[in-house]
Amino acid sequence: MRRPKISIIGAGNVGATTAHWCAAAELGDIVLLDIPQTGDMPKGKGLDLAEAAPIMKYDSRIIGTTDYADTACSDVVVVTAGLPRKPGMSRDDLLAVNAKIVGAVAQEVAKTSPNAVAIIISNPLDAMAQCFLEVSGFPKERVVGQAGVLDTARFSTFIAMELGVSVEDVTTMLLGGHGDTMVPLVSCASVGGIPVSQLIPRARLEEIIQRARQGGAEIVGLLKTGGAYYAPAAATATMVEAIVRDKHRLIPCAAFCEQEYGVGGFFVGVPVVLGDGGVQKIIELALDDDEKTMFNASVEAVRKLVATMHTLSAGGATA
Ligand code: NAI
Ligand code: 2OP
Repeated sequence: MRRPKISIIGAGNVGATTAHWCAAAELGDIVLLDIPQTGDMPKGKGLDLAEAAPIMKYDSRIIGTTDYADTACSDVVVVTAGLPRKPGMSRDDLLAVNAKIVGAVAQEVAKTSPNAVAIIISNPLDAMAQCFLEVSGFPKERVVGQAGVLDTARFSTFIAMELGVSVEDVTTMLLGGHGDTMVPLVSCASVGGIPVSQLIPRARLEEIIQRARQGGAEIVGLLKTGGAYYAPAAATATMVEAIVRDKHRLIPCAAFCEQEYGVGGFFVGVPVVLGDGGVQKIIELALDDDEKTMFNASVEAVRKLVATMHTLSAGGATA
């Protein structure tokens, strides 16, 4: 039986660490691709990971390359190509440069792996997913952005730390764009089945929510040279697993919403069923007035960013 083929575009911190998690879980054969200007770096990382296989006992075949021909006929393509932010930058500051990069990647992926499911990671995430969708011409179900799995993981981590309980017992859900306007849903947060509002006072919960919203910036501030990658890569591998093993996971992802939630044709974080073929279903939750207001503000932020991207593109500043 043919193993799933997983290509990861961008062999930097998030890309290489995603390859690591995917290999460790034996999700398939892995191709790690970067630009020719990086020389043999992707080959070196691919070989290093392949040499870990006898120790960690995984059978994934892993190679690094700068040639898209090696990625041909992938089942899943993960796009991490692009610049990460530096301290003081927002994800949105990466728009112009990363739209150019993601547009170029989308053209190559459409030629070499036209039937793949694409998982977009590059920031600003929701706009980059839109860029990939528009340039590749892929159907909307086969383009999905990673943000919610990471953002809920951060929310869950901070709740577990606060209560001194296992992260395994914490469940959280979140809506909206991958930015400061993301909407962690207190109504969907529980610990061992108990609503979190019964365990943590509202004011303290608000502080935890704010920390989750700023989770990416907190890591950038500590690392100083780039962004987070262990948790983002683990989140991405979870999505790869859901797709290649057709797990029907109900998890928050950036999906292209048209009528859903009244979004009107943009990528935003929503609960989806993720499995073979990508986004199998978008789950619509009933929101209270506060949640609706926050969600609409988050969608508006994504809409503005996409409009800026289209303006830059019309002016020739992106692919
Ligand atoms: P990095 O700088 O370590 O790696 C990026 C890699 O992309 C580099 O190796 C670079 O050579 C490569 N690259 C640039 N142009 C390319 C092209 N045209 N084709 C193929 N590869 C190309 O950066 P890192 O930390 O891996 O982050 C990558 C992106 O992911 C950034 O935009 C970052 O903001 C984003 N990110 C998104 C997260 C999310 O939750 N959605 C979480 C973490 C990072
Ligand atoms: C994060 O949230 C940088 O988007 C990335 O860590």
